[in-house]
Amino acid sequence: MGRFLNLSPARGALGTFSLPLRIQHLLATFLGAVAVFGFLYLIVGGHDSVFLLPARPDRVSIHDGPGQHLGSVPRPPRRRPTSNHPIDHLIGEARVEFNQLLGKRSFTLEQAASRYRERRGRHPPPGFDRWFAAATEMNAVIVEDFFDRIHHDINPFWGLEPREVRVRAHDQPYIIRVRNGTAEASDPEPELHFRVAQWLRLIRRFADNLPDMDLYMNHMDESRVMVPWEEMAKLVAGEQKTRAFVSPYDAISTYGGVADVEGRNRYDPHWLDHDVPKFWDFTRDACPPDSPGRNISSLPSFDKDAEYPDAPMPQYTYKGYIKNFTAAMDPCLQPHLRGMHGTYIEAISMSTTRELVPIFGECKLPPNNEILIPSAMYIAEDIRKEYSGGGERGGPWKDKKDAVVWRGSASGLRNRADNWWHNHRHRFIQMLNATTLAAIEAGDKGAARTFRLFSPDKDPYNIRARREGRLAEWVSTWSDVAFTDLLCWPPEDGEDGKPKKTCKHNDDIMSVAPGIPFKQLYDYKYLPDIDGNSFSGRYRAFLMSTSMPLKSTIYAEWHDDRLKPWVHFVPFDNSYMDIYGIMDYFLNGHDEEAKTIALDGQAWATAVLRVEDMALYTWRLLLEYARVMDDNRDRLAFVDDLLK
Ligand SMILES: *[C@@H]1O[C@H](CO)[C@@H](O)[C@H](O)[C@H]1NC(C)=O
Ligand SMILES: *[C@@H]1O[C@H](CO)[C@@H](O)[C@H](O)[C@H]1NC(C)=O
Ligand SMILES: *[C@@H]1O[C@H](CO)[C@@H](O)[C@H](O)[C@H]1NC(C)=O
Ligand SMILES: *[C@@H]1O[C@H](CO)[C@@H](O)[C@H](O)[C@H]1NC(C)=O
Repeated sequence: MGRFLNLSPARGALGTFSLPLRIQHLLATFLGAVAVFGFLYLIVGGHDSVFLLPARPDRVSIHDGPGQHLGSVPRPPRRRPTSNHPIDHLIGEARVEFNQLLGKRSFTLEQAASRYRERRGRHPPPGFDRWFAAATEMNAVIVEDFFDRIHHDINPFWGLEPREVRVRAHDQPYIIRVRNGTAEASDPEPELHFRVAQWLRLIRRFADNLPDMDLYMNHMDESRVMVPWEEMAKLVAGEQKTRAFVSPYDAISTYGGVADVEGRNRYDPHWLDHDVPKFWDFTRDACPPDSPGRNISSLPSFDKDAEYPDAPMPQYTYKGYIKNFTAAMDPCLQPHLRGMHGTYIEAISMSTTRELVPIFGECKLPPNNEILIPSAMYIAEDIRKEYSGGGERGGPWKDKKDAVVWRGSASGLRNRADNWWHNHRHRFIQMLNATTLAAIEAGDKGAARTFRLFSPDKDPYNIRARREGRLAEWVSTWSDVAFTDLLCWPPEDGEDGKPKKTCKHNDDIMSVAPGIPFKQLYDYKYLPDIDGNSFSGRYRAFLMSTSMPLKSTIYAEWHDDRLKPWVHFVPFDNSYMDIYGIMDYFLNGHDEEAKTIALDGQAWATAVLRVEDMALYTWRLLLEYARVMDDNRDRLAFVDDLLK
């Protein structure tokens, strides 16, 4: 607010003017105030979006710094919601919460350090000042809460002896080493794994600011570290015990390095790679003892139909729609996912440890213990270019089709004749296939093995087309989804000697369609994004597009704390049961809401998911990582702002 009021010409020098001048000045002040408050009204009141929010780039500058005025032309007032739909309520609440979060933005090093101390109960790590200077230089939006994930991931390591952390990271495969401010991979560069190569590039952007360290990178699709809950509870308690503010006079700023563990034998994490279809049992051991998932074992076999939930999950939905996206991602709260997500049926590969090994990875299940870093898919230049759709990221909203589009392969599990109906991607395709829905509406109960429709009288989503028995007809007007490759297992060779894209056990219910370039995906208003073998690498591109992402996942990523469901994207449940209700809302009278989410999401993603932001996140993360494995970790602290 102060920043706006500073624009007023008043500045309190009234006494020095003669009378006519003073009147002129008062008039000017009055008009200035009217202009400023009018501007504020348009942004805060007239539009549900926020001031301070980096708004649509065509209207308002997103790189507002302290003292800078926030842009020129405010957006037109939004139409007030005319319905009393649960989604109106969720959107309204999410915007308020997001505005409050942005109100905590830090503009100075002192603010940033003090908010760090308040939220973390420690001093920031040495090097925090250089990090902050770089973040400011890069126009980053710094809100301490955006970095919660770093602390969630690093905190358990305070429960181990620092040397033990160094030992566990040393001499593993797929290592990135930082020595004397230079980052190198353990493998020769021409042979680097795609992921490691991207991460190395990212780290090199700021490696000269890092102490020495070894980073053990997860090159696999699947997440790797699953420490049982009781063990984790001890480690987290260990962190809380050590949480303290060292006296600024006892603080030190030089990290000790990792040279003492060089030459040691590799630590053995005791990788578990047997029994892939029992992966749920590893997850459940990492679930809290009182969570519903903890008391349920892996399915003994997958020959029965999936157990589809009877109703929306009450813990995290509001009238059937997701209100707590963090909880909605959590398998511990949804034991039915043991039979409804490829991860728990038969992953393509498995290599899991129950020990707390510091492994950096691009996604993980909520009960996993990896240290998250931005996905290699988001860093690689050629992929970013392709996914941007030629740089356009889509045309104007009014020119887009009122429809949902999705193309992708049948990944998620090994697609076998005796398990496929448990895969989330197969379910998604069947639920949006009008032919399948027509068969169900005509009474063919066996038409879809992947899901179950609620009976019309018990449907919590109360969709008009469903009540009228024309769900299929309605879905056919807006759904364009298909597999591009069924990834059959075992693969069948085609005439050209390459594996066929079709699949004997799916061919009567699913057909294969050609892929669609990203540029053309952005011709549609609605872009669902669902998990594959793990997270989906398209998410960042969808957020940055002018279309509206619909997101469903059980995988956490680095950016989750900076994206707000219902403000930047629309969340949907991993059962997909809410998808018809969501589309009923947006397609029947709430196009303006969809457009606002699409464009606010785009502006926000363009401001906070840049490669610069990924580098800044990783830089801050690596300072914490270096501190937690340092013998002097209790004294390593940035305190310069306190000693001034
Ligand atoms: C790092 O610098 C130190 C001292 O300048 C030197 O002894 C050491 O060999 C260097 N290490 C590497 C990996 O370059
Ligand atoms: C679930 O809890 C019941 C009652 O406490 C117990 O008898 C049963 O063994 C538990 N099941 C599993 C799979 O842990
Ligand atoms: C959302 O769910 C998470 C995970 O279950 C929980 O920790 C958090 O407190 C919940 N947030 C709110 C606002 O209820
Ligand atoms: C939709 O379902 C029908 C009937 O089950 C099937 O023939 C068709 O291939 C499916 N379409 C797609 C795109 O999978």
